[in-house]
Amino acid sequence: MFIKDIWYGAAWSGDVEPGKPVALTIADQPIVVYRTVDGKAAALEDRCSHRCAPLSKGRVEGDSIRCWYHGLLFNSDGRCVEMPGQDMAPGFDVHAYPTVEQNACIFIWTGDPALADPSLIPISNLTSNGLPFRTGVMEFAADYQLINDNLCDFSHVAYVHEHTLGQGNSEWSHRVPTQTSLENGICVTRWMEGTRIPPTPGVDPSLRVDQYTAYDYVIPGVLMMQIDSYPLGTAKALDYGVPPASMEGAVYVVRSLQLIVPVTEGRSRYLFAVSHPVDPAPDQSLDAVIGLFRYAFSEDRDMIEAQQATIEKFPGMALRNTRHDAGLVRVRRLINSKLRQEAQPAEVRAAE
Ligand code: FES
Ligand SMILES: [Fe+2]
Repeated sequence: MFIKDIWYGAAWSGDVEPGKPVALTIADQPIVVYRTVDGKAAALEDRCSHRCAPLSKGRVEGDSIRCWYHGLLFNSDGRCVEMPGQDMAPGFDVHAYPTVEQNACIFIWTGDPALADPSLIPISNLTSNGLPFRTGVMEFAADYQLINDNLCDFSHVAYVHEHTLGQGNSEWSHRVPTQTSLENGICVTRWMEGTRIPPTPGVDPSLRVDQYTAYDYVIPGVLMMQIDSYPLGTAKALDYGVPPASMEGAVYVVRSLQLIVPVTEGRSRYLFAVSHPVDPAPDQSLDAVIGLFRYAFSEDRDMIEAQQATIEKFPGMALRNTRHDAGLVRVRRLINSKLRQEAQPAEVRAAE
């Protein structure tokens, strides 16, 4: 079961090109995304109302998409506007999904269109600064909640990413970060003193820094993260507080947006992006950091897919919690409470 009345990050903007419909499944719903003449993203159910051919095999014509089986034409509102060989007949419209393009990402609302409020989309600091960024997408054979769990608890960095993001620093698991609750998720912050920066062009591999990591994680699975590295002594000098927004004195900074999207039961999509506001070696460094993230997420994927398989071998076994799990417990609670709310009859929901 998946939340319906919510915005899901469907695809990076750059991955939906004019004239090329893209087939996606989000929360069990097959969807076709394409661009209209003015470049706006449109999303329809990926099913022709005639004989159920997928519209994603069709052709974009102006603001519409034509089914490439027998030629029915649908506009971006899902209205059937042409039926070759006959006058228009009623009942052939398909569902159109509200879409918004923001944070370099196409967001789709899978529930009641009347409730699709764009202000509910979290604002990422990734693209707001106008700096270059890189994006990537991965598929996981695992439930999206397991990926949410992974991102709400970075203690796994010491083990799963020992030689990559972790750089052998056991502090990831030996110290619990500061965590506060947000209306729709959590905010996690931590300083790590005297740590190493993962291998990056332009950065001296022996350099030790004080690193501030902070992220918001909001449902259904959106991570907005900053990693700011400063000269040794900075954490103490700032009394372990928040570094200045100007990033003055920072030697290495990463901003990242990551979106976890349920595809079907047991399958998920992971969209990730990085930018470098303070860049030691511009493009080279950005390529290196997206490469590093991609590799690190494949380390996560190996573990999470194995975890999913083990869960299936031991049906009914409870997942237990340690101190590190406070964040993921809150996020799971928020998701479950949304699911419960959506399961209620419409009149009960309206009265709330
Ligand atoms: S299935 Fe689409 S026009 Fe026939
Ligand atoms: Fe990880």
